[in-house]
Amino acid sequence: MRICVVGAGYVGLATAVMFGKLRHEVSVTDIDGGRVRTVNSGKAPFYEPSLENELAKLVKAGSLVATTDTVTSARDAKFVFMCVQTPSMPSGRIDTRPVKKASRDVAKALRQSSGYKVIVMKSTVVPGTTDSVVRPLLEKGSSKVAGADFGLCMNPEFLQEGSALKDSMEPSRIVVGSSDKRAGDLLMKLYAPIKSEKIKTDLRTAEMIKYASNVFLATKISYANEIADMCVRFGIDSETVLAAAGKDPRIGPLFLKPGLGFGGSCLPKDVRALKDRARADGYGSELLSALLAINGRQPLEAIWLLEREIGPLQGKRIAVLGLAFKGGVDDIRETRAVPLVTELLAKGARVVAFDPMAMPSFIKVMPTIEYASSAQECLSGADGCIVQADWKQFGTLGRKEFSRMRFPVIVDGRRCLDPAKVERAGAKYLGIGYGRT
Ligand SMILES: NC(=O)c1ccc[n+]([C@@H]2O[C@H](COP(=O)([O-])OP(=O)(O)OC[C@H]3O[C@@H](n4cnc5c(N)ncnc54)[C@H](O)[C@@H]3O)[C@@H](O)[C@H]2O)c1
Repeated sequence: MRICVVGAGYVGLATAVMFGKLRHEVSVTDIDGGRVRTVNSGKAPFYEPSLENELAKLVKAGSLVATTDTVTSARDAKFVFMCVQTPSMPSGRIDTRPVKKASRDVAKALRQSSGYKVIVMKSTVVPGTTDSVVRPLLEKGSSKVAGADFGLCMNPEFLQEGSALKDSMEPSRIVVGSSDKRAGDLLMKLYAPIKSEKIKTDLRTAEMIKYASNVFLATKISYANEIADMCVRFGIDSETVLAAAGKDPRIGPLFLKPGLGFGGSCLPKDVRALKDRARADGYGSELLSALLAINGRQPLEAIWLLEREIGPLQGKRIAVLGLAFKGGVDDIRETRAVPLVTELLAKGARVVAFDPMAMPSFIKVMPTIEYASSAQECLSGADGCIVQADWKQFGTLGRKEFSRMRFPVIVDGRRCLDPAKVERAGAKYLGIGYGRT
């Protein structure tokens, strides 16, 4: 089966490789010619090693190609997956311009072809978008009717960066919203080899399932962060508290790790977008506002912990380890490193930063701070350190690295280090939610 995937980002390439592995012929399109060349050379345009391995094999075998020509690629395909970005605008509303541009191109493809196709919206869009934005553009540009001449589906994506391909091949569930039964049945059939639970619904419900899921994840993280911040003040280790709370099956153990807040391309934007969408219908969500407020202040918790130990930060050299929004990825979208570093600078600190993969993109956002070429170099001469992203390799830091610090004080902003190991290596360990002194 020929499949066209519009957008060679995390979702688009994970979708493309997943269908390639299921032995379909896949064509990925992107407006960015550089990305297209990268994909055609068998490389992923971002750090996602297992996805890249499989991508390289498919490109070599000729079963996955990339192109800038969406119209031709979509014209020749039976299924077209739209996976373009839907970033936040300043108001919190999603920017649908990439979705609109992709829809217009796909409409041209529909106009040029005679067979029945299924167009699948995979980008995260607020309830009503597929029906009221995508459908009219497709119908107007093609002079065809959704539900009769072509099928329209909404199939939200739940992958996490760092495990994008695995999450696509083994999703917790597959949600298919459709404009009509035929389109929904065809998409279900395409997904038949993937043995996950499948949920069939309408377009609007499918859109809302994605937001309901991400808001819950943001809620769990914010809950863990608030409990952790209280635990520090009460002299309790939140890890013990949250692990025990998570044993209750109604709560569950996952996503209960406190930290500097949620970042990345999805959670903050999706919380803002749903809040904006609800407001448009006259509903003011207290919960969504609280999530954004808690998340906004959480990076300050690490600075408060550090100042409590080493005093005012004016003139002090502070090492920030990890700049990506989490360890194991090079994505800096909505990383908590930006508000963290901004606040450190506002307090007069001299910031030196290191990340194994995300430095090239972070330098573009914050060009004036100092960058180190290794964690060891970053710690050298530092008056304190904040671990911002949970890169596994930071767990191996020990006496050799800490002894180079002027004051060996580590604030574990992600609870990814072993407190006893850090202390044995001669550094003072402070962590989010680590109230045991
Ligand atoms: N990244 C994630 O972890 C994740 C997880 C689940 C859902 N989502 C959602 O999926 C969508 C895509 O996210 P992403 O992270 O893959 O985005 P991304 O920014 O990594 O990739 C989007 C790609 O689409 C391309 N593009 C934009 N307009 C185009 C057009 N008109 N034609 C062809 N290509 C075009 C861009 O150049 C870019 O390469 C978003 O709505 C996001 O919220 C993302």
